[in-house]
Amino acid sequence: MNSDTYIPIETITQTKLQKSEFPVYIETYGCQMNFADSELVSGIMNKNGYSNVYSPDGASVILLNTCSIRENAESKIYKRLGELRKYKKKNPSLIVGILGCMAERLKRDIFLKSDVVDLVLGPDEYRKLPSMIENLVNTGEKGVAVRLSRVETYDDITPLRKEGISAWLSIMRGCDKFCSFCVVPYTRGRERSRKLESILKEVIRLWNEGFKEVTLLGQNVNSYRSEGKDFSDLLKSCAEAVPDIRIRFTTSHPQDLSLKLIETIARYDNLCKYIHLPVQSGSDRILKLMQRNYTTEHYLKIIDNIRKAIPDASLSTDIIAGFCTETEEDHLMTLELMKQVRYDGAYMFKYSPRENTKAWKMKDDVPEEVKTKRLMEIIELQNKISEEKNREEIGKIHEILIEGPSRKSPGKLKGRTDGNKTVIVSCDSFITGQLVKVKITSSNSATLFGEPVSSK
Ligand code: SAH
Ligand code: SF4
Ligand code: F3S
Repeated sequence: MNSDTYIPIETITQTKLQKSEFPVYIETYGCQMNFADSELVSGIMNKNGYSNVYSPDGASVILLNTCSIRENAESKIYKRLGELRKYKKKNPSLIVGILGCMAERLKRDIFLKSDVVDLVLGPDEYRKLPSMIENLVNTGEKGVAVRLSRVETYDDITPLRKEGISAWLSIMRGCDKFCSFCVVPYTRGRERSRKLESILKEVIRLWNEGFKEVTLLGQNVNSYRSEGKDFSDLLKSCAEAVPDIRIRFTTSHPQDLSLKLIETIARYDNLCKYIHLPVQSGSDRILKLMQRNYTTEHYLKIIDNIRKAIPDASLSTDIIAGFCTETEEDHLMTLELMKQVRYDGAYMFKYSPRENTKAWKMKDDVPEEVKTKRLMEIIELQNKISEEKNREEIGKIHEILIEGPSRKSPGKLKGRTDGNKTVIVSCDSFITGQLVKVKITSSNSATLFGEPVSSK
């Protein structure tokens, strides 16, 4: 072939595909890391000349960034794919893609489950999305990319965030803990951390762009490691680099939450005094079966250390009801532990067996109605504790970051305390992103209500 007749493939595809007139819409399910990933994908698409839209109507590409954590997370996606069939009928050239954990778990089997799907991309393959769309448009071939990577951190990709005051920032990917119930190590692959310098640069950029709060994300942030630096070092660097940005993080695994970390959080004003520390169960026998690598004694010791160093720390947790072989006695131990710790909040779930995990081979022997009953008892207890704890806040003064108008209480504003509690403020003269001192005047189990305190 001589050079005159050689047309680079790029040129061919570009004439076929007017990327800017090819709007991409992403719908996100699952954890915060998926939300952060959707912003990465938008960043990748944007860099490649595509436009991003925030509604499925009029989109040429609809991407569902999916979650596999429990069976009902996946059922939601199948339901959504059923609805998308209507969109595809109206617009047969519409492209539908599955991203995220379900893509990784089910791979090309998704095509068997739904004929609406054209593309399947796992969490470490997002760089391929633009070329896979082009290939699909050019050849009509459906595409699958589901290789997990040991190194991909998307360090060089600038996420496309919607304007706002709070930003998600993934500091690591994957998980090596292999809790016996959990699908994440299989859908997200091995643990790997982003470079400290690059995270620091991003935090500084976020501050310069007007963000007031950043949440550092990882399945287990305590095992962050980069060039000899650990998570405490990262927090310290961020806290010092942007002293006026609020810094949060999630999730901490109890196994490796160090004293050094607790001391770091205590030392810096802009590190939020809020720790999400999933316990999962209050029974040591169940914790062992779950492969959580800690006992309730160790867990309670950490809580004790946190409370000693940070007396006003807010604590939340995750709890699973009805794990394999869980007896009424085990369940009562969970309730007991909740009473002992008195969490400010909790995410509570019924155990859902996930294929290929270690627990999949155990017998899911707690009957559904028993799981439901135990979950209801856990939720009821937590609501009671949350209500009591929130009532204790009445009369106290908190610094609130205003997030915008309250949807439920028109004319009022919504914000959050350092400890991550929602506060409705009866005053509309503040602006989003402002830090305001508020006196708490009333409360319920989910929300605090307050009035601004004049600064003089
Ligand atoms: N990395 C985090 C958890 C991420 S998943 C941690 O270890 O703390 C979020 C929560 O979902 C878990 O803490 C657990 O409570 C719940 N979960 C995970 N797998 C589950 C399953 N198979 N059934 C029910 N709940 C599950
Ligand atoms: Fe799942 Fe355990 Fe990893 Fe959390 S630490 S993501 S529960 S395997
Ligand atoms: Fe779900 Fe995957 Fe997050 S399974 S909870 S989206 S890591």
